[in-house]
Amino acid sequence: MIELTPALSEHRLKGQVREIGINPNYWYAVAWAHEIKPLQILAITLWNQELAIYCDDQNIVRAVENRCPHKGVALHRGVVQRDAIVCPYHGWKFQNGQCTHIPYFPIDQKLPTACLRTFPVREQYGIIFVFPGDPAQADQIPLLDIPQYANPNWLMIPVSAHFNAHYTICNENTMDVFHGYLHRNLQGWFDPVLLKLEEAEASVRADYRVSYRGAIARFLGLNDTSKVITRTISVNYQYPNYINSLQDLSYLYLMRSPISQHESRSFSLLFVNVRLPKWLIALLQPVLERVIRNRLFMRFLAQDIAMIESEYENYLRDRSRRYVEVNPAIIALQRVMIRQYNFSLDCSTGES
Ligand code: FES
Ligand SMILES: [Fe+2]
Repeated sequence: MIELTPALSEHRLKGQVREIGINPNYWYAVAWAHEIKPLQILAITLWNQELAIYCDDQNIVRAVENRCPHKGVALHRGVVQRDAIVCPYHGWKFQNGQCTHIPYFPIDQKLPTACLRTFPVREQYGIIFVFPGDPAQADQIPLLDIPQYANPNWLMIPVSAHFNAHYTICNENTMDVFHGYLHRNLQGWFDPVLLKLEEAEASVRADYRVSYRGAIARFLGLNDTSKVITRTISVNYQYPNYINSLQDLSYLYLMRSPISQHESRSFSLLFVNVRLPKWLIALLQPVLERVIRNRLFMRFLAQDIAMIESEYENYLRDRSRRYVEVNPAIIALQRVMIRQYNFSLDCSTGES
């Protein structure tokens, strides 16, 4: 068991952590794959970078800067032609970042050099990921591994969330197992104890012992009776995502998508090992998915969002005010996020 203490020497971190940016040299979840239909364009923002994401006629998803190099018009208002995106204003056409056609130019006239920034994209697990950093590094950085995906033993529940808060506050909420108090009316967990904490350059893993009781615990296969049951929850932050597990009973893959200093999203895949035959899981999937998402997950999430947004509002009212953090796992998480941000700054300024 790890003792919780007010870590006075670390207070400086807390203020600084709300001002950091992201390390762009990772894959970030930006949309659900079903949101982008062939030949359609979706406008999204990833850490202040506006992107137009489109699906071409070969079903390949592409991401470009959402700003025409001609006069800056938003390209998501345009159209897709085969693998190209066409600006709505003067009809300039862009393929692989190059302007390849201007409709009012004579056929033999040389086209201006007008480059459109493109971004590496991957579609996996029903999610679109974008690599906003140095494209040369994209292939070396692996996507999150989700072995439970498409495995019929697991019931998968996708969940989206939006937060009016800096992403670091959202991440701290996920690491903070001590807020079971907030969810007490939902029969959440109680009596948390931090058992183990490991910190590395880009990760923090905290194991907590928690207790459950009641109908939700029974539903999740934690308990057949009304007795209290104790389990270990692993909260594993692997920049910029979370992989949390409740022993072998459920897994939560939470992909954080920072929009700006003031806004964040998350794309989560919750896997539950429901104790039903596979054929019945397949049959009940749509109903179970809706019930678990709306009756369970979203109710917890709504309570979390209220706290996260309140914390951020008060931070904005007085940025110099310091608060008392007592959970070493949160302090470790803050260090990792700051380190990753600083690391990206060092790279961009050419330092080692
Ligand atoms: S602004 Fe895009 S073509 Fe002119
Ligand atoms: Fe919560």
